[in-house]
Amino acid sequence: MSFKSEINRRRTFGIISHPDAGKTTLTEKLLLFGGAIQEAGAVKSNKIKKGATSDFMEIERQRGISVATSVLAFEYDGIKINILDTPGHKDFAEDTFRTLTAVDSVIVVIDVAKGVEQQTEKLVEVCRMRNIPMIVFINKMDREGKDAFDLLDEIEQKLGLNVVPLSFPIGMGYDFKGIYNLWEQNINLFSGSSRKNIEETIEISDLKSEKLDTLLGTKAAKTLREEIELVEGIYPKFNREAYLKSEQQPVFFGSALNNFGVRELLDCFVEIAPKPRPKRSEERLVNPDEKEFTGFVFKIHANMDPNHRDRLAFVKIVSGEFKRNTPYLHVRNDKKMKFSSPNAFFAEKKEIVDISYPGDIVGLHDTGNFKIGDTLTEGETINYKGVPSFSPEHFRYINNADPMKSKQLNKGIDQLMDEGVAQLFTLELNGRKVIGTVGALQYEVIQYRLEHEYGAKCTYENLNVHKACWVEAKDSKSEEFLEFLRVKQRFLAKDKQDQLVFLADSPFSLQMTQQKYPNIKFHFTSEFE
Ligand code: G4P
Repeated sequence: MSFKSEINRRRTFGIISHPDAGKTTLTEKLLLFGGAIQEAGAVKSNKIKKGATSDFMEIERQRGISVATSVLAFEYDGIKINILDTPGHKDFAEDTFRTLTAVDSVIVVIDVAKGVEQQTEKLVEVCRMRNIPMIVFINKMDREGKDAFDLLDEIEQKLGLNVVPLSFPIGMGYDFKGIYNLWEQNINLFSGSSRKNIEETIEISDLKSEKLDTLLGTKAAKTLREEIELVEGIYPKFNREAYLKSEQQPVFFGSALNNFGVRELLDCFVEIAPKPRPKRSEERLVNPDEKEFTGFVFKIHANMDPNHRDRLAFVKIVSGEFKRNTPYLHVRNDKKMKFSSPNAFFAEKKEIVDISYPGDIVGLHDTGNFKIGDTLTEGETINYKGVPSFSPEHFRYINNADPMKSKQLNKGIDQLMDEGVAQLFTLELNGRKVIGTVGALQYEVIQYRLEHEYGAKCTYENLNVHKACWVEAKDSKSEEFLEFLRVKQRFLAKDKQDQLVFLADSPFSLQMTQQKYPNIKFHFTSEFE
């Protein structure tokens, strides 16, 4: 197959949702369609197995949340699909934000009864800001939930989306009869016992057909006709260009658990979802079909196997072919590196591969060379943008609890920060180290991993910080900036990239500081134009 066809047949996407909406279940059903797994339950049982064999994963198992972001790949209809799994738990939101830099589109899962939830709002906002094409899947139609029209309104209002239903439910919960597929113009009847089977769809020439009355009963058929008329009256026609520009979001209804409505979603997805897209770097826009390889690290994972201390850096291939045993330039370190055993990911396993294409993710064994956001190329200096750090929500001093192990502690902190578990700030005034995290859970993860992976012990001390703001001065020699540095010294720190950060102790003090120093910009993310 030619290089171009390899690119054209790749779809790399993420599934985002509030926890419990059904992301894991949907992922699993998609894999079933791809023939990548043989039976339902495989994805979950895999999760538990990992938890039992690894100390670190024990934290995940106990808490029943997915700490890890993994890659699942399968083939469907000649299309190579890469699903990047994203943790739904809010404490790991930053992990999800970073993963979203590596997807070309997303599927948003919403629970029909709960509607739009908090995590959905946050994640969709990030996708909207980055113009990532989104398809919405409304799940759990076998349960009583909100009225379809009300829910579509809620999605438009709370998420700021422009929805276009491509399927529509016939009844709901106890009365759920099936789905009318506006995209394919056919009906899929729900039997409730179709969990493992892929149901037959019933073609109907048009909604006026008497077949509909026979299939659904006169009352349900009438309601469906009225509802579809309403749908066609209210919502615009699906326009693929608008979807690709993230100006329009198609919606599907179904029940992941019952494997219902999933085929419709998948069939439409492979048809409309974008192939690998060009990516902006600091230097220029890079197209996937360029000959030379480029890619960037969006995730670093501690090795789950306690016999191997190394880590796995996840690289999204942006352009060219990534080849095994070929020297590539690690741009930040200005060093050539070769990889003898790059991993490609499949449904349940990873394997060493010789060649990977744009859209693919490769896992590279790393002994500490990589940081999140690093770029690899064939020689050109390219720095991919868009893997920023966000201002953490929690801040604590970290103290060494075992003076004999300070070297181990520093190494541990250093590596955990490179993995993006949390952010480290060093106070300008006294050099004390402050750990900032998105959720409180990370402090436990850090403590646990420092002890089990690096043999170091730490304690924490509370610190009253509201937000970390990255400081940008128009003129770093100006009176105003020098005064700011002097007056606010107590609140200043450096992040790991040596960027200056202002640790505001309250919204009020941040506002006052912004007013007092109008020529200084305070950013809530580490990357700015
Ligand atoms: P998540 O990854 O988004 O957190 O959600 P997950 O797939 O784990 O699903 C959360 C719960 O919702 C699970 O139940 C799952 O079985 C259920 N679920 C998913 N899809 C549907 C659906 O279409 N209909 C109904 N009725 N339920 C659905 P659980 O009891 O928490 O877990 P389990 O014991 O069933 O594994």
